Amino acid sequence: MAARNLGSTTARPDASMGRRPDAAVASAFLASTVGGESLSTDDAAKRRRARFHSLEVAEVRQLTADAVEVTFAVPEQLADDYTYLPGQYVALRRDFDGHELRRSYSICRPPVRGSISVAIKRDLGGRFSTWATSELAPGDALDVMSPQGTFTSALDALDGKHVVGIAAGSGITPLMALAHAVLARSETSEFELVYTNRSTLDVMFLEELAELKDRYPSRLALHHVLSREQRTAPLLSGRIDAPKLEQMLDVLIRPETVDEWFLCGPFELVQLARDTLEAKGVDASHVRYELFTTDADRVEPRHGRPVVVERGEPTVAIEFTLDGQSSTVDSPVSANESILNAALRVRPDVPFACAGGVCGTCRARVLEGSVAMTENYALEPDELERGYVLTCQSHPKSDRVVVDYDV
Ligand code: FES
Repeated sequence: MAARNLGSTTARPDASMGRRPDAAVASAFLASTVGGESLSTDDAAKRRRARFHSLEVAEVRQLTADAVEVTFAVPEQLADDYTYLPGQYVALRRDFDGHELRRSYSICRPPVRGSISVAIKRDLGGRFSTWATSELAPGDALDVMSPQGTFTSALDALDGKHVVGIAAGSGITPLMALAHAVLARSETSEFELVYTNRSTLDVMFLEELAELKDRYPSRLALHHVLSREQRTAPLLSGRIDAPKLEQMLDVLIRPETVDEWFLCGPFELVQLARDTLEAKGVDASHVRYELFTTDADRVEPRHGRPVVVERGEPTVAIEFTLDGQSSTVDSPVSANESILNAALRVRPDVPFACAGGVCGTCRARVLEGSVAMTENYALEPDELERGYVLTCQSHPKSDRVVVDYDV
């Protein structure tokens, strides 16, 4: 299949730009606008306790050969539990042959009451994503966690602000919601997107990005970078490595004009972008990032079951508070298990999604004792200073540890 023209950077898109035949859907996507000047006003959405509800699939829409957009209907009695900020995600949960799998997917549409839409891309060997992209159908019910996440804007107001997103593959998903909201909530804001894929056929939301460009021709700049397809501009062809990114920051996007950065993709790209921005003098507090791990990469948590406390062996006492209720569980020192793993043994409703230190759903505050955290791709420095930890990555280092999930 011939490559399609992905359009230019800041001018109106080329009339020959390829479009998928779902313009009506794209227009509906754009019609769901929001009011106000800030993207971060919904405090309930920012700090809501994660809970699952069964939601019905209203629509499954093909985005690329291996990616779909899934829209869930949110009944009015649950609508307040499913308000969200652009950039947040939901976790989906399902049993496969008696084994529960949870996967987090970013919400791809700007906030709208009564529905939640996520994009799911099939990962080679990924059981959940393979099932979701091939079998999930309208009318099915699936457990959906209330929206979570801090990959959201910290800007108080958007007038005159320049926001930049750098995404790879399905990392575009939260940036779709963010780009739309940034542009819709002010008449003077600008959004600039660097979006890298292998080829045009892999570009998710191609039609919606084109519609967004049509709607905001002078305030949205799109830079499609294709690693395995030649584009007219050499800068937009090939893999994004350090020299290419530095060049982009010299000639396309001048960092001193940018108010907020959003990075979303695999670890290598996000780390490269963070390092490059830091070297360019960008303050880390203006850079927000989110990693994605592939479905196939995931290590499933043990859900607290395999660890057994043998009589007389040294243990650590882990006390935790969740929904105002305190529980204590003993954890063998030799097991060196995570606080989440131990807590799930006595409370199956302890919140978690990725179990890999990425999403932040398992966040709690350490009130007593000390822990060692293995990975942290979710907590900000100020949260660490205030004693917050990711319990899926935290292992007790004192005889007694007390954490609170409610604060
Ligand atoms: S469950 Fe995702 S960071 Fe712990």
